[in-house]
Amino acid sequence: MDMKGRSSLVVGNWKMNGSLALAENWAKELAALWRQAAPAAEAGLCVPSVFLDRLVRSLRAEGLEAVEPGAEDVSVREGCGAFTGEVSASMLRDAGARLCIVGHSERRTLFGESNASVVLKVKALAAQGIRPIVCVGETREEREAGRTSEVILAQVRAVLEGCGIESLSGGAFAYEPLWAIGSGAAASLEQIEPVHAAIRAALCEADAGASEKVRVLYGGSVKPANASAILALPHVDGALVGGASLKAESFYGICACGR
Ligand code: PGA
Repeated sequence: MDMKGRSSLVVGNWKMNGSLALAENWAKELAALWRQAAPAAEAGLCVPSVFLDRLVRSLRAEGLEAVEPGAEDVSVREGCGAFTGEVSASMLRDAGARLCIVGHSERRTLFGESNASVVLKVKALAAQGIRPIVCVGETREEREAGRTSEVILAQVRAVLEGCGIESLSGGAFAYEPLWAIGSGAAASLEQIEPVHAAIRAALCEADAGASEKVRVLYGGSVKPANASAILALPHVDGALVGGASLKAESFYGICACGR
């Protein structure tokens, strides 16, 4: 498969961390590094939605257009209405979101996110022109039972069949093995590559032309020290970065490894 057309996309995920002040300082620090040497990679940062507006303004104030602001989740409900506590895709767009993580394993395991709700969320985001980053991943038990590809492909196909590959245009799947997230040790290159190749094959099978506009990212303990090897893998189009995205310097270090 030809990967040449896609630059790397490195997306940060703050999870339930950070503050308004950090959003502002992070943008300042990253902009200073970016001005010294702009990485080839595209970048984005997904933050809790209450920090989004501050992040957008800070990135703009620093002239850091290369970094797209994003959210970590979105409501399955579109528009507005009596849905206390929910934040819709149109509200995220209003606040400046260009990206949004969907179906992160923490949401799937701790908050009951299902493939069906992931499908509704991707459709809601696509309708607002927000690029979805759909997370998929296997547990350690599933890997040890030899079920990794079966589990990953079922998650990927549920989304492709439910919302159509066009809804993912400009967006990505992020392969995040649950056992590697926050562990400090990323999956090995030998473990990452075949899963990415299988996801890429499923995308091509859905629609060879449209699949070119969908990236496949790796996530799970990515840091500056392991990013060049991971981002150099033929089917890896970027990274989803948790812990290491909280510091502008380490996030920049990962972006600098992209192509
Ligand atoms: P991590 O998190 O980089 O801290 O392992 C990745 C993620 O959960 O997206």
